[in-house]
Amino acid sequence: MSHFLNKVLVIGLGLIGGSLAKSLREQRACANVVGFDRDQREMQEGLRLGVIDSMAENLAEEVSSADLVVLAVPVKATEAVLEQIKPFLTPSTILTDVGSTKGNVVEAAERVFGRLPVGFVPGHPIAGSEKSGVAAADSQLFNGYKVILTPLQNSSAEATARVEEMWRFTGAEVLMMDVARHDEVLAATSHLPHILAFSLVDTLAREEENLDIFRYAAGGFRDFTRIAGSDPTMWHDVCLANKEPLLRQLDRFTAGLARLRSAIEQGNGDMMLGTFTRAQAAREHFSRILSDTASSQTMNTSNVIFRAQPGGSVTGTIRVPGDKSISHRSIMLGSLADGITEVSGFLEGEDALATLQAFRDMGVVIEGPNQGKVRIHGVGLNGLQAPPGPIYVGNSGTTIRLLSGLLAAQQFDTELSGDESLSKRPMERVAKPLRLMGAQIESGEGGRPPLKIKGGSDLKAISYEMPMASAQVKSCLMLAGLYADGVTSVTEPAPTRDHTERMLQGFGYAVAQNGSKVSVTSGGTLTATQIDVPADISSATFFLVAAAITPGSDLTLEHVGINPTRVGVLNILKLMGADLELMNEREVGGEPVADIHIRYAPLKGIQVPEDQVPLAIDEFPALFIAACCAEGETVVSGAEELRVKESDRIQVMVDGLKALGADIEGTPDGAIIRGGQLHGGEVFAHGDHRIAMSFSIAALRSSGEIKINDCANVATSFPTFVDLAQEVGLNVNEGDS
Ligand code: S3P
Repeated sequence: MSHFLNKVLVIGLGLIGGSLAKSLREQRACANVVGFDRDQREMQEGLRLGVIDSMAENLAEEVSSADLVVLAVPVKATEAVLEQIKPFLTPSTILTDVGSTKGNVVEAAERVFGRLPVGFVPGHPIAGSEKSGVAAADSQLFNGYKVILTPLQNSSAEATARVEEMWRFTGAEVLMMDVARHDEVLAATSHLPHILAFSLVDTLAREEENLDIFRYAAGGFRDFTRIAGSDPTMWHDVCLANKEPLLRQLDRFTAGLARLRSAIEQGNGDMMLGTFTRAQAAREHFSRILSDTASSQTMNTSNVIFRAQPGGSVTGTIRVPGDKSISHRSIMLGSLADGITEVSGFLEGEDALATLQAFRDMGVVIEGPNQGKVRIHGVGLNGLQAPPGPIYVGNSGTTIRLLSGLLAAQQFDTELSGDESLSKRPMERVAKPLRLMGAQIESGEGGRPPLKIKGGSDLKAISYEMPMASAQVKSCLMLAGLYADGVTSVTEPAPTRDHTERMLQGFGYAVAQNGSKVSVTSGGTLTATQIDVPADISSATFFLVAAAITPGSDLTLEHVGINPTRVGVLNILKLMGADLELMNEREVGGEPVADIHIRYAPLKGIQVPEDQVPLAIDEFPALFIAACCAEGETVVSGAEELRVKESDRIQVMVDGLKALGADIEGTPDGAIIRGGQLHGGEVFAHGDHRIAMSFSIAALRSSGEIKINDCANVATSFPTFVDLAQEVGLNVNEGDS
């Protein structure tokens, strides 16, 4: 059997050293795991418990014959142990440690060695438990936890790779960082909270009668102070070892606490809510990171898979989540308004949440979302503040494009970036006209994200003829127009969704509409209002198509937005012969809504009228499924915009449907689809939420299971999709690969 190394020597068989040794042994990582501990009994115990293969009776000999030496001793003992082993290290010995502070370990090594050995790669496993001693050794201690390595300038790539490999055997995730950053990060995330917990308990306990108040302390106190039960000597050592970074973090914390104190003193509710809502959001983000579901650059986005079984029914009455476009705009305009805007029916999907977080980052106090309710404390058109860093918008094209118009008019600089899919999408369509207005905006390679926007430009109004039918470009320019000198006009080649226009008017801001031209004049103000977000017709579409293709279906979708610029899908389905009717039509906060009742009826293929394309632009992936289940040929043309959505929706649908046996051909601006029997198979959503959901409903008419890869982004627009699909009778389940 080949091993990654022959002999590993672990010096110090406490909890960390013992657990590492035990794990390496269990994994058969090396031929020989030798243990040393200055306490002879601990060594013997280690041998007896099978933590190590053998004891280092003669440390000098073991060091000189080891391939890798792990120092697992208390940090303050590092220097003495290094002195002791130095004469026996060979030029090829790899040396690492497990200390929780790194700057002082490196300093100790410098004092001992002068020039640091190339084999030296400091490390720090972020794992532990309250237990100690070799008897507590746990081979699973590092499994799923992080280990930070801090390779030095002198460290060889070979040594770093070997230390990394060693930790991988334990199941740990290995990260690289430089020494200073490590110590700063640990001061903030570990040392500071420990100090605070010790200090709080000590403060309360100091007065004698206070010992008694612990009796009344509930879960909050227990949770906050659990870590004050840790080893005092160890924390004493950490405070000394990581003094400067810890002091910096303590100063930042003290300043934050002082700000909160003065907010409480002055009864400044906005400041208190600002702190609490930002903290709550950050804490939720942190919890998602821990459960690995956050949409962030730092995440491992695991391959979420949907499996859809053939058969199933589509019956019942449901309400799909709030409209994505309107949810974005409610946060944007609510933030820019004077007063408090209350939103209900807000879509708690990742895209709209990215917009919400962006405005929080720019100093807007936003309460919620809580069951679709959001309260936005508007800061007025000129009240945004510089965000603390680049704004990450995840998968959301609407956020990046609309924000670019708004940010081009601010006094501060910003940078906008997004996930892999967004980073492939064209941004010059907004950057070009914004530059014509005088904005300073730079896009990344090939005109894609990130966008770097310089603040302090005085924008001037323009009259712009959009080369493509895009509501995002139109809205971006209208937002910039709120700040540009004069009247900003946008003319569209075909009608696109008009939620921005409607909502601006709802906030009391005049918008002029003249045929295909829409204009805003700067200098006005927005007044806070109430917004009831209708259910998203784009999300409803999956169920409309599901019902339209499945014999026996009878489904009602409640409170769906039926804005005339969004109803292309209803018109197209009706042309195909779908049996659908609108009931209970009404207007809610400037947007028309209705309940939609749909029953199965055989569909026929059609030539999709090109004037319906922009009105159904997000609905084509689902409509392609409808076309596969219709009799005859469906032709889609004039839809080249589909190629620059969250994925190239023409190509991705053609590939997937062909894998399911469909008769489909892609064209530069659409597709030709002939109805027929679909079979089961494996398809790829390419991170595109609407593709993932479309293939889920295809199984209603396929002869075998459809396995859909890369579905994590369904959470961007429809986080409850699988639950609702199951509720109406679809047989779709989510899993992880
Ligand atoms: C949106 C406009 C459309 C649409 C997108 C949302 C909006 O994009 O596809 O999902 O909220 O303005 P384009 O304007 O790029 O067509």
